Amino acid sequence: MPFPRGFLFGSATAAYQVEGAATEDGRTPSIWDTFCTRPGAIADGSSGETACNHLHRYREDVALMAELGLNAYRFSISWPRVQPGGRGPLHHKGMDFYRRLVDELLERGITPLPTLYHWDLPQELEDDGGWPERATAERFGEYAALVGDALADRVTTFITLNEPWCSAFLGYAAGVHAPGRTEPAVALRAAHHLNLAHLRATEALRTHPGVRVAISLNLHEVRPLTDSHADRDAARRIDNLANRIFTGPLLDGGYPTDLFADTAQLTDWSFVKPEDIPNGPVLDLLGINYYTPTLVSRPRPGDSAVSGEDGHGADAASPWPGTDGLVRFHQPPGERTAMGWTVDAGGLRDLLLRTARSHPGLPLMVTENGAAFDDAPEPDGSIRDSRRTAYLHSHLQAVEQAVAAGADVRGYLAWSLLDNFEWAYGYQKRFGLVRVDYDTQRRTVKDSGHWYAQVARTGTLPPLTPA
Ligand code: FCB
Repeated sequence: MPFPRGFLFGSATAAYQVEGAATEDGRTPSIWDTFCTRPGAIADGSSGETACNHLHRYREDVALMAELGLNAYRFSISWPRVQPGGRGPLHHKGMDFYRRLVDELLERGITPLPTLYHWDLPQELEDDGGWPERATAERFGEYAALVGDALADRVTTFITLNEPWCSAFLGYAAGVHAPGRTEPAVALRAAHHLNLAHLRATEALRTHPGVRVAISLNLHEVRPLTDSHADRDAARRIDNLANRIFTGPLLDGGYPTDLFADTAQLTDWSFVKPEDIPNGPVLDLLGINYYTPTLVSRPRPGDSAVSGEDGHGADAASPWPGTDGLVRFHQPPGERTAMGWTVDAGGLRDLLLRTARSHPGLPLMVTENGAAFDDAPEPDGSIRDSRRTAYLHSHLQAVEQAVAAGADVRGYLAWSLLDNFEWAYGYQKRFGLVRVDYDTQRRTVKDSGHWYAQVARTGTLPPLTPA
């Protein structure tokens, strides 16, 4: 089963996770710079201050992509680097980095896929209330206009937001991501203003003819533990809070009314203005980030009243407003990655197919997929990460199956090109196709990277060699 012609095989990174150079050339702090100074927030006490030093080593990193035969690179633009403080004119010195990066990619035939927001809100905007405030969406629209003016002559597809679910619910309800607030009702406001931010950015970017607008959602493949009414109701609640809260307004003409009913004790949703709901398509492509499925039930008598482990930390506050006592999370069976996430490629196939069927005509792209494992370099320095290769193999097969069944999938971007700063886990979790030695910044292509290079070069899946 070959992949379609023109299919993109690439990799993805994000500014704060790889760039470093956090205080160079006038960049101001983002909420992640601030969050990293909070004691206990990051498992190893680290930050993205240096990370992979991609800002200075981007040429070497692009050369590596070319060597691997990758034909797309999804990176993110650091808002406080190109518009320090989140207001005012474009900061050319900051934007020059992205102009050079894009030029370097284009020279090597690699399609640039910039994401405008991968979680690094300028701290000043958080000081003014952050995503729960409508004004932040307006600021984002202005920022998107600046980026569009600077790059639309050489970039055709812009991804507005990365995983707004994480921004809203890990950032403002669970508090395990920046800005570390635990205010469930406020998180729902944040979700709406992220949707509005996408709308504003779309309006700005579409002033450039030929530009295509996308978003990357971490759509959850939600499964009920049993077919009982109660368990299906638990799945419905999570589907609303994880998926439809974004696909509703962006694709389906409005929020699901049962989402309003389920959260009525927290908010009356009066922050949603009728004109905030787009009256035409605001997506030319939907990016899907997938790692693992989500298995839920209604708590049984004797189960603890609060949500069980859902992959975001058992001790943290819940990222699911309004579900206490109504939803329990379960670990799906099967092999787990170093994140504790179950490996389940069927989830990706099902998610792609369901999205393709519910939104016919909407091109899809897997904008993140990959796995962290505890890589142990061999004495000669090579990294025999056969489990990561197997993960990529099974998930690429899932994409093939979805395509064969009719899903219009345009590309697959492995998370990640490089080992990098994995948010609250710091540098302890490695997702890269390429190992980074953080003492020397040396890059070493892992076995999985060599295997993926064969995929990218041939457009087919080479067999797995036994470990
Ligand atoms: C996603 C993020 C990405 C990375 C992967 C592992 O949720 O978008 O930055 O951390 O998870």
